[in-house]
Amino acid sequence: MAPTTMKQWIVEGKDKGFDGLSFGEAPIPKVGENEVLVKFQAASLNYRDLIIPKGLYPFPLRFPVVPGSDGAGEVVEVGEKVSEFKKGDKVATLFNQGHQYGDVTLQASQTGLGGVIDGALRQYGVFNENGLVKSPSNLNALEASTLPCAALTSWNALFGLKPLKPGQTVLVQGTGGVSMFALQFAKAVGAKVIATTSSPEKAEKLKKLGADHVINYKTDPNWGETARKLTPNGVGVDHIVEVGGSGTLKQSLKCIKFEGVVSIIGFLGGGDPKEQPVALDALTHLCTIRGVYVGSKALMNDMVHAIEANDIHPVLDEKVFSLEQTREAYDYMMAQKHFGKLAIQIA
Ligand SMILES: NC(=O)c1ccc[n+]([C@@H]2O[C@H](COP(=O)([O-])OP(=O)(O)OC[C@H]3O[C@@H](n4cnc5c(N)ncnc54)[C@H](OP(=O)(O)O)[C@@H]3O)[C@@H](O)[C@H]2O)c1
Repeated sequence: MAPTTMKQWIVEGKDKGFDGLSFGEAPIPKVGENEVLVKFQAASLNYRDLIIPKGLYPFPLRFPVVPGSDGAGEVVEVGEKVSEFKKGDKVATLFNQGHQYGDVTLQASQTGLGGVIDGALRQYGVFNENGLVKSPSNLNALEASTLPCAALTSWNALFGLKPLKPGQTVLVQGTGGVSMFALQFAKAVGAKVIATTSSPEKAEKLKKLGADHVINYKTDPNWGETARKLTPNGVGVDHIVEVGGSGTLKQSLKCIKFEGVVSIIGFLGGGDPKEQPVALDALTHLCTIRGVYVGSKALMNDMVHAIEANDIHPVLDEKVFSLEQTREAYDYMMAQKHFGKLAIQIA
């Protein structure tokens, strides 16, 4: 007999930190006519998942919510009006379920999985067919589960506004999920990559992944100028995948090329708000400073095709946690012990 209940995680609120995470049983949701039932095989964590229970996430939330924007699994049932998927298809979740194509709207920005809508840290989930994409055929479920947030954000940064060209230079910061995808996508189109990290061991891994230059941002606090000197004729870099926030933006502006794009994605490094560059810096540096919020289903499908065509495999941390161990995975990631994406196997 088919199971009727499943295991799932819940975030109860934003005032208890990781103590606000609980693991329990819930009924397996029923499928509506436009919906798809997915049996999750894997999920992956993002920095966003860590800061939601800590009350630091700046976008709309609803509690209680099943956490996790990123999941991958197999379609086990489809509603009668579903046309895009069939039983047995391998799928991954779309971060903003309402963002289908083009610019993100206010309404679509409020449809985040694992924030407003129940997410992937559970054994089964029901989604409108618009909220899923087919997983790349070259990836296993653990790998595919890393795509919805970090990968699509990097893809949007590099190709969503002013597409990166072969021979151009990209700067990526640190060795987290977003940055590792940016490195891989940039190398796949024949661009040069300058990467920063705080760790000599991680620097070696970055070089193995194809980084052309690596700078230690702890021992070289003026890494922006160093990065500029590494570009042909010192003109600066074409794209910066800015995940550090106010702590790193000042350095980024020291190495951006005229007409380059600084994609503002995250704020891992914190920093003094009084030190923050101002909007006029876009004029003095003649660059585009663009906020990026993940990406649309159309962009995700483009990215899936590129991953298949170039046989790109996401960089997974050596440690994989089970669904039951999710709380430990949150602690491990918070301590920045990971390299690339941290994945969770769901039985
Ligand atoms: N806007 C969006 O749509 C969007 C989407 C996805 C993620 N984000 C945001 O983007 C950021 C990155 O996400 P993620 O999932 O890639 O995070 P992550 O995997 O947790 O990244 C952790 C890594 O960041 C690096 N790091 C920390 N402080 C740094 C600093 N001051 N300068 C340079 N690197 C630093 C460290 O690298 P080393 O150990 O090598 O030093 C660390 O290992 C987060 O703020 C996240 O919320 C935004």
